[in-house]
Amino acid sequence: MRNFIFILFINTFLLNAQQIFSPDNYLQLIFKLVDSKPVYLLNYKQKPIIKESTLGIDLNDQPDFIDGFTIEKTDTLTFYENWQPVWGEQSTITNYYKELKITLSQMVPEKRIMIITFRLFNDGLGFRYEFPQQNNLNYFVLKEEYTTFALTGDHKAFWIPGDYDSQEYTYTTSLLSQVDATKGSGFDEINTKNIPGPDYIQTPLMLKTSDGIFINIHEAALSGYPVMYVKVDKKCYSLQSHLCPDAVGNKAYIQTPFTTPWRTIIVSDKAEKILESKLILNLNEPTGFKDVSWIKPQKYIGIWWGMHVGTMSWSYGNLDNVHLNTIDWNNVKPNGMHGATTENTKQYIDFASKYGIDAVLIEGWNIGWEDWFGKWKEEVFDFVTPYPDFDIEYLSDYAKQKNVELIMHHETSSSVTNYERRLDDAFSYMKKYGYDAVKTGYVGPIIPRGEHHDGQWMINHFLRVVEKAQQYKIMVDSHESVRPTGLHRTYPNWLTSEAARGNEFNAWSKGNPPEHETILPFTRLIGGPMDYTPGIFQIKIDYYNPDSKFQVHTTLAKQLALYVTIYSPLQMAADLPENYERFSDAFQFIVDVPVDWSETKVLKAEPGDYVITARKDRNSDNWFIGAITDEEAREFNVKLDFLTADKYEMTIYKDAPDANWKTNPMKYEIENKKVKKNDILKLKLAPGGGCAIKLKPLK
Ligand code: NOJ
Ligand code: CA
Repeated sequence: MRNFIFILFINTFLLNAQQIFSPDNYLQLIFKLVDSKPVYLLNYKQKPIIKESTLGIDLNDQPDFIDGFTIEKTDTLTFYENWQPVWGEQSTITNYYKELKITLSQMVPEKRIMIITFRLFNDGLGFRYEFPQQNNLNYFVLKEEYTTFALTGDHKAFWIPGDYDSQEYTYTTSLLSQVDATKGSGFDEINTKNIPGPDYIQTPLMLKTSDGIFINIHEAALSGYPVMYVKVDKKCYSLQSHLCPDAVGNKAYIQTPFTTPWRTIIVSDKAEKILESKLILNLNEPTGFKDVSWIKPQKYIGIWWGMHVGTMSWSYGNLDNVHLNTIDWNNVKPNGMHGATTENTKQYIDFASKYGIDAVLIEGWNIGWEDWFGKWKEEVFDFVTPYPDFDIEYLSDYAKQKNVELIMHHETSSSVTNYERRLDDAFSYMKKYGYDAVKTGYVGPIIPRGEHHDGQWMINHFLRVVEKAQQYKIMVDSHESVRPTGLHRTYPNWLTSEAARGNEFNAWSKGNPPEHETILPFTRLIGGPMDYTPGIFQIKIDYYNPDSKFQVHTTLAKQLALYVTIYSPLQMAADLPENYERFSDAFQFIVDVPVDWSETKVLKAEPGDYVITARKDRNSDNWFIGAITDEEAREFNVKLDFLTADKYEMTIYKDAPDANWKTNPMKYEIENKKVKKNDILKLKLAPGGGCAIKLKPLK
């Protein structure tokens, strides 16, 4: 009966409507004008996923793009291509969709045009607004975008607050009706916080319906426009777009022709398929870079964790009230904890060279760290002056000799105007000393004051940095930056970003609960790679500081599995070299695991519970598997039917039988054995545990 009513409803709705089906026919997109307003609806396997939902845009001082429309014309097309990303989770990606393009006109009182383009893939829908250049619309100021996602029920949601300045939250799992974005575990630990209200949450938003359908809502190709959050209507379970404002409360300044980012809805009845979706990347433009030979996925260690666990400092002296470039640093008394010394850096280079780790990141190498935080001041760093105990010339020669790359750190302290003024000098300086990659950082409130990390101004800034970096052949890893939207297809030198709560929180806060890394792939990672900084072996922080109650919420084996379950072409081995020497047999997995893949299969996954991923190395025939769980111990049977050869030598790094993230986190076992394609692997994961596997074909 329900089906009958639904079909009847669809048929009535279809009157005067336009529709397309996904290539496999499972998804159906219907578009129609209702009372002269644009409305869309999305069905999956003949059931609604998004009910009748309105689309529109409100402008300042000009008539809005909300109603009064007629359809000028509609165009459809089918598109199919296979393309090769410069780096990624697979070497070939299929981009196959049906497109419906609706040209709408309005008389206000002169004629104006707005186009809405829908692309329907087997794994979901993307749509965007387009404003062609036209007589009556050259410039406009955007007041708000009114894109609606009318959901069919009170779905389970994995959410973080719709904060204008941070995504570094732990996830809350609740029904949509229970969302309160002003409350949650660890919210007080967020340094720069701007939550517009209790109903606002971020995308990628992962949802699960009561009948087991997984829905992911996000955006693709965000440029020249602010970040989209969604406002939850807790009574009718509808989501409404909400854009990040600028310093004067406007949302965006647009000059036509202009297209908005894509709004994306990934749908499947299998959680694994959500993780395998390439919809976001497919909606981004191909790269225009002529030469990509300088872009290299890599693993790195860094002078970094020492600062987070408190055994090293970024700063050289104990000064406050620093005026940049007025200090004679040779007369400043060292504080005795400075991490980025020539001697330390040399040791890190030696360690990287010994184990074949590609690169070393050095934080705290440059003047300014004495007075960098919490002042909201303009001139903090100049990005070209090392501390007196950091011999940049010597170290760059030494690294070259040892065949190790160096990664420069540019913490801007969010004085973004200062960074932009100095960017050319900073990048020239990097190149002079042979640095090919930069880690940027945006801690604190933004300058220009009043702007937000997620506003149009900063979105433009992040891309300006990436574009300028490309001119210098520099790769970028951005921290405290916008969460990704697949732009790495277009800008493959933007290797990775943080833009979520990383492992660092475990060193100095309540940290990330064991479920955190089982949610990240369904949320933050949907848009692109993350510099999560896995690989912490010394789990409890009281090892460094007896008073510390903090710890990483993990077993050691789970830290290894993260190299497979969290994708990034730039992966850190985040712990201190001495801890890797202590557990060198386990470190061998980090040495062996690749950062660039030809194939990826998500074998089993459930958001908030577990993820098991298998990937094939792009440069060999080796396969790797990572399996992680939340705080529950779990057992799995994994069928090795995806393997490409018949026989393998398997090395498995697993939780010891009595391992437990809380009580016994560092106990692991390493086992070697032979396996065949189609064998069934029995995996046992400890509470908060995981397992990492290397499979090497046998001749
Ligand atoms: C926050 C970054 O996420 C972290 O990696 C870095 O060490 C500090 N800021 C200092 O820049
Ligand atoms: Ca951070």
